Amino acid sequence: MSTPKHIVITGASSGLGAALATLYAAPGIRLSLMGRQEERLAAVATAAQNKGAQVATAYVDVTDRAEMEKTLLAWDYELAVDLVIANAGTSAGTGDGQETLEQINQIFAVNVGGVFNTITPLQSRMISRRAGHIAIMSSLASFHGFAGAPAYCASKAAVRVYGEGLQAALAPHAVAVSVICPGFIATPMTERNPFPMPLLMTAEKAAQIIQAGLQRRARRVAFPYRLYAVVRMLDILPGWLVTRLTADKKKT
Ligand SMILES: NC(=O)c1ccc[n+]([C@@H]2O[C@H](COP(=O)([O-])OP(=O)(O)OC[C@H]3O[C@@H](n4cnc5c(N)ncnc54)[C@H](OP(=O)(O)O)[C@@H]3O)[C@@H](O)[C@H]2O)c1
Repeated sequence: MSTPKHIVITGASSGLGAALATLYAAPGIRLSLMGRQEERLAAVATAAQNKGAQVATAYVDVTDRAEMEKTLLAWDYELAVDLVIANAGTSAGTGDGQETLEQINQIFAVNVGGVFNTITPLQSRMISRRAGHIAIMSSLASFHGFAGAPAYCASKAAVRVYGEGLQAALAPHAVAVSVICPGFIATPMTERNPFPMPLLMTAEKAAQIIQAGLQRRARRVAFPYRLYAVVRMLDILPGWLVTRLTADKKKT
C-alpha cells in the first residue's frame, strides 16, 4: 500500500489525534489538522512542522456542517486528500453517573454527526478519483453498552456500524474504509476516569498501532487484543451475567 501524502485529522489538538499527527509528520507529507483550541492545535502543528511536514490548521467545530464542508473541500482542492481520520470525539466521563440529556445530545452531535460532517464531503471526491481512505474513530466501547456511559457506547457503535456499511459500499469505487476500535488510551478524555483501566496504553503506542493498521488498510483496527476478546465475549455470555459483571457498582 502506498503511504498517504495528504492526511486530514480531526481532533488533532489533543490525545490520540495529536499523537497521530506527530507520528505521520515527515518530509513530503501534508497534514491538515482540525481542532477548536487554537493554542493546543498550534503546538501540535509546530511539532509536525519541525519534523518536516507541511501543515495546515483550521479551528472548526465538527458539528458545524457548512464550515466543515467548506474547509475540507478547500483542502482537497489544494491537494487531493489520501486519508481522512475522523477522530474528534467527546464523552461525559465514564463511571460517575448517568449522562444528562444535554450530554447525550452533545455526544451524538460530535461523535456521530461530526464523523458524518468529516467524511461525507471528501467521500464523493474520493469516489470520483477512485482513490482514498476513510478512517473512523470508534472504540472497543462500541461492542457493549456499558453502564457508566451508555450514550458514548451507542455513539461509537453507530459510527462503527456505519463504517462497516461504507466498506462494502465504497469498495467498488476503490475507496477504503477502516474502523478504529481502541481500548483505554491515556489522554485527557480518560484521565478523569475514577476507576482502574485495564491494559491502559499511551497515545503514542496507540497511534503506532493505528498507523500500522491503516497502512495495511485493515477493515477493523481493534486493540489491545486481550481487551477486544473480553468485550466480544460479552456477546456470548447470558444476559443476566453480563448485567451483573458490567453493572455500575456504585449504584447497586
Ligand atoms: N482515550 C480513550 O481511551 C479512547 C478509547 C477509544 C476511542 N477513543 C476516541 O478517540 C478519539 C480521540 O479521543 P482522545 O482520547 O484523544 O480525547 P481528547 O484528548 O479529549 O481529544 C478529543 C479531541 O476531539 C476534539 N473535539 C471534541 N469535540 C469537538 C468538537 N465539537 N469539534 C471539534 N473538535 C472536537 C478535541 O478538540 P478541542 O479540544 O480542540 O476542541 C480534541 O482534539 C475520540 O473519538 C474518542 O472517543 C478514545
